[in-house]
Amino acid sequence: GRVAVLLGGTSSEREVSLDSGGNVVDALRARGVDAFPVDGIPALIEALRNQLVDRVFNILHGNKGGGEDGVVQGLLEAFGVPCTGSGVLGTALAMDKIRSKQVWLALDLPTPRYRRLSKGDDVHVAARELGLPVIVKPACEGSSVGVSRVFDDKDLDAAVELAAKYPGELLMEQLIHGDVEQGTDNGAGEYTVGILDGVALPSIRIVPATEYYDYHAKYVADDTQYVCPGLEGAAEARMRRLALAAFHAVGCSGWGRVDLMRDGEGRDFLLEVNTAPGMTSHSLVPKAARAVGIDFEELCWRVLETSLP
Ligand code: DAL
Ligand code: MG
Repeated sequence: GRVAVLLGGTSSEREVSLDSGGNVVDALRARGVDAFPVDGIPALIEALRNQLVDRVFNILHGNKGGGEDGVVQGLLEAFGVPCTGSGVLGTALAMDKIRSKQVWLALDLPTPRYRRLSKGDDVHVAARELGLPVIVKPACEGSSVGVSRVFDDKDLDAAVELAAKYPGELLMEQLIHGDVEQGTDNGAGEYTVGILDGVALPSIRIVPATEYYDYHAKYVADDTQYVCPGLEGAAEARMRRLALAAFHAVGCSGWGRVDLMRDGEGRDFLLEVNTAPGMTSHSLVPKAARAVGIDFEELCWRVLETSLP
């Protein structure tokens, strides 16, 4: 059948999605799949109306015109066209970092302490309650868009102003950090766990050359280091189990990626779930898949199979 690779769109992650989706189209075609790119939701609706689509590979990142907030999933359900990855509930919940945390906290799954920021809230009080440093971010964006780390109270207002440029709510989150002594490595930092066919892939530890794994470190710089598997033995197994539990807790299925932080005492904290994770040459799920012998073409094929009933 014909596979529409849904990419691009109008979210803040449009460029990333075009890059991811172009790679997916090439890989599927190399596997003999009749794949064609479809840029954004209006074009998808047009293709559905013309009955050109038998199946959708969703690699449209982000919300509000992106494919990670349940809208595309609901549309395709209405048309009866199968789609890769999570359904309406899983994508909608995973897109919302605040509701994801609420679910995890209810299940005793660890996530950094946070405050939801509403209009009129005193952000300085919130930051004092959480304790600096904190992270301020839009609740429903990806790729670190609109995210700031705040170490000093005087920088709070600018951080909130930046995050408020994006649609939806804001949150302030305790920054998990390592307190690494000079020359020692206690494993603290940022990790991610890819999920494929409902199974956790090896974790990846992300060691940015700059201080922070931001948009530039994610997609532009070539000096970010990736260690895979990120941990060993019981610690690695524990992180994978946590990631999988978090993924299922928010109703996700098929494939995705769970982002975490690890502190200096070896405690893991959930940050978020991505339901259409990046497939660029810099992206993480392809790296984790490669570590277990799954090349990019095979990965795309396996993800496509997540659309089967
Ligand atoms: N939001 C980006 C695409 C990712 O998670 O990889
Ligand atoms: Mg994300």
